[in-house]
Amino acid sequence: MPNLPPPSRHARHWLLNPEIAFLNHGSYGACPRPVLDAQDRYRDEMERELVKFFMIDVEPLLDRARQAVADFVGCDLQGLAFLPNVTQAVATVIDNLELRQGDEILVNDHEYSACISTFTKAAKRSGAHVVKASIPFPTPSADAIHDAVMSAVTPRTRIALLSHITSPTALVFPIARLVESLRARGIETLIDGAHAPGQIPLDIRAINPHYYTANLHKWPSCPKGTAFLWVHPERREGFEPLALSARAHLTRADRDRFRCLFDYIGTDDYTGFLAIPDALEFMGALEGSWDALRNRNHTLALEGRRILCDALGCDPATPDDLVGTMATVIVPGAGLPSGGTAPGKYEDPLQERLVANHRIQVPVWSLPSQGRRLLRISCQAYNSREQYEYLARALKQELAPEPRA
Ligand SMILES: Cc1ncc(COP(=O)(O)O)c(C=O)c1O
Repeated sequence: MPNLPPPSRHARHWLLNPEIAFLNHGSYGACPRPVLDAQDRYRDEMERELVKFFMIDVEPLLDRARQAVADFVGCDLQGLAFLPNVTQAVATVIDNLELRQGDEILVNDHEYSACISTFTKAAKRSGAHVVKASIPFPTPSADAIHDAVMSAVTPRTRIALLSHITSPTALVFPIARLVESLRARGIETLIDGAHAPGQIPLDIRAINPHYYTANLHKWPSCPKGTAFLWVHPERREGFEPLALSARAHLTRADRDRFRCLFDYIGTDDYTGFLAIPDALEFMGALEGSWDALRNRNHTLALEGRRILCDALGCDPATPDDLVGTMATVIVPGAGLPSGGTAPGKYEDPLQERLVANHRIQVPVWSLPSQGRRLLRISCQAYNSREQYEYLARALKQELAPEPRA
């Protein structure tokens, strides 16, 4: 059993296995114990009086959670829907689009595969086409991202899917500028902010997209299955969830239809959403404020990246202003053509060895379009600088016997 470096002083709040150096908050988040306790209390309330909970209590509790989210991400309440994850939020938007023959859907080679797959399925049915822009990695500047996306626009581009922070490469896109340029060309925008809330300050109103979705179970460390979708007033009329519930035929004077439809999409465990205010408060208090926590994690991401680049003898792949609280480094060796994310095993043998020989959990994957092998670190409150130093030593050891690409 290797001697693991200590995580930060905040790690005591998490259930994370102390025998693993956990450097992958980005994939599934990690929820601290006090937030899980809060969710348990809502779950107990639900199970004590189920009918009262679902018919009377849940709406005001969801309204309280919605207010907390709206304040946190800078949007109005009326277009804010809770959904279990970004995958389903993106599918919901696509289902409402009414794509036409010949429409082009603009994506890029750093987008999350689930979102591209759902667009591809919709395109097949409607005769639309998915067009993929290529964004270089290493990425010299925000301008390079902006220009790569805009150069793939044509008169047929109907909608653009853009990550606010990309999954494989952890790039913070210049999202407000991109939305502005695309709007000027009459193109709708669907922003995949899966990683944005909690990593960077967020003001959706200022970005002004048509649709913005994000996960709260990632960086705000809410319970699993907590995401939101915000729909711009221009697109709200007639916008519906994928499934209509037993309440969908009802008209109510006291609540708008958008909220009624999305607040109840059938029997489910809604308690994760109810614990959102608890998570935002708990996480925000760890370092004194959300700004302080984000700044701490951002500084750690830059430090962690520098430690890894020094060990690998390479330059950072992006300027610092494209980094949030994750960072991706290019690792010697060829990336897997599959992307390296198939479940059932850790596909890249380097990831397998980091787990087996060093007890480090960190993703090693690839950008298949560019043949790069990548490693992405995450920096959350529970991580420490010593953990990235330990990873750097482990990487040097594991890469030494590999043939140079
Ligand atoms: C950029 C991006 N979009 C979407 C998703 C999908 O999130 P979920 O699995 O919660 O639907 C992820 C997940 O890691 C992601 O990184």
